[in-house]
Parts: sequence; structure tokens; C-alpha cells
Amino acid sequence: METGNRPIGVFDSGVGGLTVAQAIRQILPGEQIVYFGDTAHLPYGDKSEEAIRGYSGKITEFLLGYDAKVVLIACNSASASAYEALLAEYGNRVIILDVINPVVEYCASRNFQRLGVIGTKVTVNSGTYTRKLKEASPTTSVVSLATPLLVPMIEEGFIFDDISNAIIRTYLSDQKLNDIDGLILGCTHYPIIRNQISKFFNFSVEVVDSARIVAVRLREILEEHNLVNRGKPGEDLFFVSDFTDYFEKIARMFFESSINLRRADIWS
Ligand code: DGL
Repeated sequence: METGNRPIGVFDSGVGGLTVAQAIRQILPGEQIVYFGDTAHLPYGDKSEEAIRGYSGKITEFLLGYDAKVVLIACNSASASAYEALLAEYGNRVIILDVINPVVEYCASRNFQRLGVIGTKVTVNSGTYTRKLKEASPTTSVVSLATPLLVPMIEEGFIFDDISNAIIRTYLSDQKLNDIDGLILGCTHYPIIRNQISKFFNFSVEVVDSARIVAVRLREILEEHNLVNRGKPGEDLFFVSDFTDYFEKIARMFFESSINLRRADIWS
């Protein structure tokens, strides 16, 4: 039975996951995306794991309402907190993909000596990257650092200015990150400041950005399950749980083509 014409469901706490949606658009141009940004609850990085699991479950139900063939958790905070729970609850109905496992697999293949991870508080405090990297690549030493100001900074549009440079420099100067040869951007907002991060390290550290790695993994999964869309894809749909013109404006920064955000209040 051909079921490849169903959409890829993608969600994040806000617009950061659009960096992943953008990579899917490039790598899988024949697929339809249904995106949900939970802007009413942004940021997830400061919430409890329990709250994030609750939000993620409800969003998964919403995406299943669009008959998604895959639910992609395009948020590290939700991947760290809710992946296993979503897998247990929905794994028999839909393919659940997170952003952490594909990055861990990629890093294991690169044999880093000392790998840094930056992300939100919930992602770093969960220890998910450290635990999974230790299992997949026991010879790599892993250091992680919470960088909570980066999400609001990016969401507020401070990207190429003195404020963002000072914040980025302050975080990345942390001694923990001395002598790293790779740095995982453990938050889907961070690809927006990837160049500034690479520049801080004089381009001598490999900056690992999940967007492309996850999109490539998604393509493999669709091929393995014979779920590649062979027909004409439907129009992409972008939903947010709270709408302001501002979200639409910054959404364009994350997703490089025109985007029409609609409000879907799934909480009331
Ligand atoms: N983009 C989300 C992530 O990857 C986090 C942003 C937030 O704190 O909501 O972790």
C-alpha cells in the first residue's frame, strides 16, 4: 500500500525548528511539511521535563490529525525530555524521529577527541547528549555547557551585532570548552549564529549542526520504509500556538522562503 503522500510532521517550541524544516525542504523537496511551533509555551529550555512531555504529546496528536507519516521532534529540549515517552505512546502508529540520536551517530563516526555540546538548560541538565555519546563513542570526552541566553537573543533578532558577539564570546570562552575539536549545536535555534561560533574558534573546531544531519537521516528512514512521496507534494503548512506579526517576521530568518504562519490553538 502506497502511503508516501502523507506529510512529515515537524515541531519545535517556536521557530527554531524551521532550521530543520529548511534542511528537509532542500534534501527532500518532494515531501510536504506540516510544522507546529509551540510559541505559546516558548521557551521549552526552562520548562520541566514533565511539562515538555505533556506539550509534545498534544502536538503529536495534532500532527497525527494531519495523518503525518513521521513526527520529527525538531527541538533538542523536547528530544531530551520527551523522545522515549513519545516513542512508547505513538511509536506503533507513526515513525518518531528526534534530533539528538542522528547527531550522536554522526559524531561517533567522526572520532572526536574532545567534544563540546551547547544547548538549553533542560537539554544540558538532562545529560542526554553526554550519556548517548559515551555509549556510541567511548573514547571521546564530552563537555557540555548550558547557554540559555542564546535562544532569546536569536528570537529578538540580535544576531550580527555587539550584543550577540559579547554573549557568544562570554559563553564560548568558558574553560570547559578549551581544546575541543568539535562543538555540537544542541539547540535548533543555533544554526542561525553558526558563522559567529565558527569564527570564535578561528574555524578550527568542527561545528556540528543538526539540521542537515537530521534531514539526511529522515531521507534514509523514508527510503527504508518505502515512504518516499512519489506524487506531487501538498502545500507546506506552518502552525503556531500563539501568533504575532513578529513571529512571522523572524520565521523568515529561519526558513528562507516565504512562509504563512497560521494560528492553531490546540490548548483550549
Ligand atoms: N529550539 C529548541 C531546542 O532545540 C529550544 C528553544 C527553547 O528553549 O524553547 O532546544
